[in-house]
Amino acid sequence: MPSTVRLKPFQDIPGPKGHALAGLLPEFNADPLGFLMNGFQQHGDLVSYRFGPKVAIGKTILAAYHPDLVTRILMESERAFGRDTDGFRATHELVGKGLMTTEGPYWRARRHILQPLFTPKRVARYTELMAEEAERILVEHKQYEGQEIDLHQAMMRYSLRVVGRALFGGDMDDAEGDLHRLIPEANRGIMARTTQIPKLPLSLPTPTNRQFVRTRAGLYDLIDRVINRSGSAGSDHSADNIVSRLREARDPETGRALTEQEVRNEALLLFMAGHETTAMGLTFGLHQIGLHADVQQDIADEIRAHHASGAGAAAYAQNRDTLGRAALSEGLRLFPSVHMTERVANEDLDLNGYLVPKGTSVFLVPWVTHRHPEFWPDPERFDPRRFVGRHDRPRYAYFPFGGGPRVCIGEHFAMLASMVLLEALLRAYRITSHDERISMKVLNSIRPDSDVRTTFTLR
Ligand code: HEM
Repeated sequence: MPSTVRLKPFQDIPGPKGHALAGLLPEFNADPLGFLMNGFQQHGDLVSYRFGPKVAIGKTILAAYHPDLVTRILMESERAFGRDTDGFRATHELVGKGLMTTEGPYWRARRHILQPLFTPKRVARYTELMAEEAERILVEHKQYEGQEIDLHQAMMRYSLRVVGRALFGGDMDDAEGDLHRLIPEANRGIMARTTQIPKLPLSLPTPTNRQFVRTRAGLYDLIDRVINRSGSAGSDHSADNIVSRLREARDPETGRALTEQEVRNEALLLFMAGHETTAMGLTFGLHQIGLHADVQQDIADEIRAHHASGAGAAAYAQNRDTLGRAALSEGLRLFPSVHMTERVANEDLDLNGYLVPKGTSVFLVPWVTHRHPEFWPDPERFDPRRFVGRHDRPRYAYFPFGGGPRVCIGEHFAMLASMVLLEALLRAYRITSHDERISMKVLNSIRPDSDVRTTFTLR
């Protein structure tokens, strides 16, 4: 409890009022991004939102938009701020216990096992596989050269294959139909469960609960089928995929191997965390590149000069100082696949001079912080040069991959996969985006809700 300073009361944190009965939930559900952005523009860097009715079961949630607050909350994760939020619990209910859905010693031991599989050096081993899959996408789209395609669908396919092969050693093309149904269902289920007030036990056979349980069974069934192909426990583990490495791993403290169920949960969580997020980063980033012919030409020239110097495609994809990489980073600034996340106060604490009681949830919203005008002049403008060279922004003015101890484990994998695709695509094609804006569906991440109309034209 912070005792030395006089803190302002929690109730004084500014925020929109909301309906006495419904609270702010209907407004939030109708347009989450607009709602949060409005809150920031009208009330500032720390905003209080009351969801649900004023009495009894209503709940007040804070949103911290300033990079200094973001730094504090992310860096103090696991101590002052924990992850035991409604969204976290809903994800746990759906996909079980694993790195992403636990805290404390269990999480730490898992992070110890998984982290070494995702270092830049380790993921560089997947460059060739990524290049093969990028080439496959180009070959498949050759017949549509000069015609309109759906960029979103192409990027989902690429990401599914790349993540599928790295995780399981084989692509998941035969699972694509089931995944198209199950992943949106899973996301809807997590969202519905997260915002359910009051929470009903899953054993109660309401239509929402029954659907949730069906989705869970479908996901387990699918992942079991895929996992069984990547070599069952005790068989040959020579394949360099993440599932086989998980089977070989030992708990650093106890020396124990993971059970097959634990391997399955981690694989499912990694797949869920990595597949759509990477596809969305590419879709939104390439859509912007397809709108900005000047930027696109500069990247294409950069790629050509790179090849002319005798360096290979892999070296370009792995280089962190290219305009191509800056453009993808700028895409993730404007369209962070994970538009918001949440923490919960583990103790009474001082936040911006207010007394915040233990148990309070705090939203962190890259979507809004990435548009904070103090750090991002003309925030809506797509300008990759913001990421070229040195800059004096605070570290957490930009956090598409989160930060602190729970930073995204797949960041290097996602950026490498995206760069490999970008290099292959812009080396061969000029891309044109036909719509100025992508209309979006916002669940636990952002995604297009209609075709992202794009044309690939041979250079
Ligand atoms: C552009 C692509 C991606 C984006 C934008 C992204 C974003 C994020 C963010 C924001 C977090 C932190 C959430 C929080 O702090 O609450 C996170 C965590 C995580 N991500 Fe990613 N991610 C991406 C790709 C991937 C990939 C490819 C994988 C794995 C194959 C992955 C696996 C994970 C895992 C396991 C966590 C949880 C880490 C932990 O809690 O210790 N992500 N991601």
